[in-house]
Amino acid sequence: MEKFYITTAIDYVNGAPHIGHAYEKILTDVIYRHFTQRCKNTYFLTGTDEHGIKIQKTSTEKEMSPKEFCDMNAQKFKEAWKALDIEYSQFIRTTDEQHEKAVQKIFKKLMDNGDIYKHSYKGLYCSGCESFLSEKDLTEDGLCPNHMKKPEIVEEENYFFKLTKYKDAIIKHIKTHPDFIIPSFRANEVLNQLENIEDISVSRARSNVSWGIPVLGDDSQVIYVWIDALSNYITALGYDSENCDNKFKQFWPANVQVIGKDILKFHSIYWIAELMALNLPLPEHILAHGWITIDQTKMSKSLGNVISPTSVLEAFNLDIPDPLRYYMASAAPCGKDGNYSDEDFKEKVNAHLANSMGNLLNRTLSMLVKYFDGDIKPEFLGKNTLKEQSLETIKAVKHHFDYMEVQEAALKINELVDLTNKYVTDNAPWTLAKEGQMEKCGEVLTNVLQVMTVIASLIYPYCPNIASSMAEQLTYDLNTKLDDITCESLKAGHLIDKENIKPVFLRVDSELADKKKN
Ligand code: ME8
Ligand code: MG
Repeated sequence: MEKFYITTAIDYVNGAPHIGHAYEKILTDVIYRHFTQRCKNTYFLTGTDEHGIKIQKTSTEKEMSPKEFCDMNAQKFKEAWKALDIEYSQFIRTTDEQHEKAVQKIFKKLMDNGDIYKHSYKGLYCSGCESFLSEKDLTEDGLCPNHMKKPEIVEEENYFFKLTKYKDAIIKHIKTHPDFIIPSFRANEVLNQLENIEDISVSRARSNVSWGIPVLGDDSQVIYVWIDALSNYITALGYDSENCDNKFKQFWPANVQVIGKDILKFHSIYWIAELMALNLPLPEHILAHGWITIDQTKMSKSLGNVISPTSVLEAFNLDIPDPLRYYMASAAPCGKDGNYSDEDFKEKVNAHLANSMGNLLNRTLSMLVKYFDGDIKPEFLGKNTLKEQSLETIKAVKHHFDYMEVQEAALKINELVDLTNKYVTDNAPWTLAKEGQMEKCGEVLTNVLQVMTVIASLIYPYCPNIASSMAEQLTYDLNTKLDDITCESLKAGHLIDKENIKPVFLRVDSELADKKKN
């Protein structure tokens, strides 16, 4: 694999990030880190979506300028991603000057090519979606089904994009690329939506929406949020329709664009049409993840059940984000909805990370010290009983990640941990030691530790800090590419002293966690 470019949706900065936003960024970071283990040149883009009527309204309510308001909230997103060890390469804000200028040029190019025309229009606008809705999108009571709010009637002269011109080409692309939309069951939804598409409004009257990027040469109009927002994936790399710098040449098209299912239409139809109109290659995969609920309830401000990711770290007194990353990344099968609950969180991370995985390493190293002073003797090596299963697991994990099956890959890693635990129980190295079968005992321990190096590599994308403590105790190089793993990295010699053995993860337990989070 030559290069790997992955993007997330850019979040609206109306408020602070919640656990749904965090879910997407964690999922993306896990995929990203996995591909850094397979590929030399990788790039991970995330950021914030800052224009539009909603930000304009909210900032006015807060008596702040829209820019001040965006600065304040964008910072909260950056801080949250830092706390979660989201290792993005770039954080784009749609108020970045470079982005704004590039969007203006993109808009102009579309206009010059005849893909954009002016048209009088009357439509229903939902500011929650920042989108026009058609009558048939609405609930029986005439509300936006996503926001349960009545859309406002907007009558304006706007610029329109000739979406219909690209309808057939998009249908063809989706049909001929079965992995384009992941999970594939969503492709049918998109094909249905394509049946009824019309040209779309791509600007708003400045008199109604002032917080936006002005159309070059027509100050009365601002570029409508989705053309502005979607373009971030290329403007971040330096694309501006006239020039494109090396990053664009190196990384575009994206390998994976991660988004939530609610904005799949924008990404698999509008965005694809924009790219076609700009004559640019299309992304390889669009991953539409599901939604996260809290205790099986939709998160909402009015219910007061919105959880911030950092509040979880605080409530459980966690100094590393690994357990939350692990829990969220394995919260749902690919593309399906998932749930967060304190109880389930505690139970899963204690069972998987502390009891099964962490404890396995800890007791094996302890036995190596107890019976062999922490030495791996040459005669322990060679009979690498678990090697085949380890290499099979790497293969299976890679295969799952090729289809962005992040939870499914985690389950494979767990299976290897369980199998190794069973191997220890079955072979009872403590009994072997008691019986004086020292070579056999050392062999069992060494086999387990060899697998643990593989597990450290495989768990790294989910739990980078835990993986690095594991690797340190095993003197294993975590930078080993997945294809170079042999399950033979441990060599004869002294491995570890008693005082350097430490649990890689302690059980979480906290009464604080039961207190209300916000
Ligand atoms: O849609 N569970 O921004 P946004 C899982 N700015 N994912 C969730 C979620 C939940 N409960 N709530 C939100 C926007 N998301 C636009 C995107 S991209 C060019 C512009 C996801 O802040 C949502 O699906 O409303 C989306 O992918 C992302 O968070 C940002 O949502
Ligand atoms: Mg949204």
